[in-house]
Amino acid sequence: MQKFTLNKAVFPVAGLGTRFLPATKAQPKEMLPVVDKPLIQYAVEEAYSAGIRHMIFVTGRNKRAIEDHFDTAYELENELEMAQKEDLLALVRSVQPDDMNFTYVRQPRSLGLGHAVLCAEHLVRHEPFAVLLADDLMVGPAGGLSVLAQMVAQFDQLRQSILAVQEVPLEQTRRYGIVAADPAQAANPRLMKVQKIVEKPAPEMAPSRMGVAGRYILTPAIFKHIRSQRLGAGGELQLTDGISSLLVEESVYAFQYQGKRYDCGSKEGFLEATVELALQHPGVGEHFRKYLRGLTLD
Ligand code: G1P
Repeated sequence: MQKFTLNKAVFPVAGLGTRFLPATKAQPKEMLPVVDKPLIQYAVEEAYSAGIRHMIFVTGRNKRAIEDHFDTAYELENELEMAQKEDLLALVRSVQPDDMNFTYVRQPRSLGLGHAVLCAEHLVRHEPFAVLLADDLMVGPAGGLSVLAQMVAQFDQLRQSILAVQEVPLEQTRRYGIVAADPAQAANPRLMKVQKIVEKPAPEMAPSRMGVAGRYILTPAIFKHIRSQRLGAGGELQLTDGISSLLVEESVYAFQYQGKRYDCGSKEGFLEATVELALQHPGVGEHFRKYLRGLTLD
């Protein structure tokens, strides 16, 4: 493969967000805020921190708010300028740095994650690319690299597909793509070579407890492998099945990232993210810590 630098990220954002109804009746689930930023912005910032500048959203009906969020807010910026609210103006403008590009493509039907990735094929073409699922809010270690930036550092060496993985409780294997993997390099125990990958297996069928988190770096060969799949788990075209087929042709690596994943596709994970990120927030953290200490739990 040609030595492309990783410059494109695909964000599948067409999902309905039924787990958060009624909050998501009229707004995209990706726009739900954790403290003061929508989920999708965390994912976009993570991609940016990993050197990616071209953001591709695979979107659907009722997702206009995402496009507006990453566009110039002319009236708002004008008002803030007139009122000389420079800090707020800078904050609003920082959502969309000058060197970031956005492209939107529609996923016309809910046919699964694999299908969503295929919708971006004509924009990605022959380059390796990242996929970020905004439901998974990933926080890198304090003062360290973001999760995707850690993966890009691995990719620069390997030039092969890499999946972010974490150990998951056995009773939760049905929520994840699960990999069986062998150590890849003695010097790098976080890196493993994938032997097998299965989408959402029952615990007794799971080849391990190593679950895929919503961060992928994929080579463009993935497209033909997704296309050759039949509908899989849940009657959907699964990215996991495409990766399983890719394994026959190319090496795929699993990377145990440093940092923490919040499953913001679930109410529990969303609340955990909100509490922990609020505690770290420079503006409200101190107050919030005092408030939590004062609560009588039980
Ligand atoms: C998707 C993938 C799954 C992966 C998970 C990570 O599932 O299909 O393989 O482990 O994301 O969050 P979803 O959560 O969209 O059902």
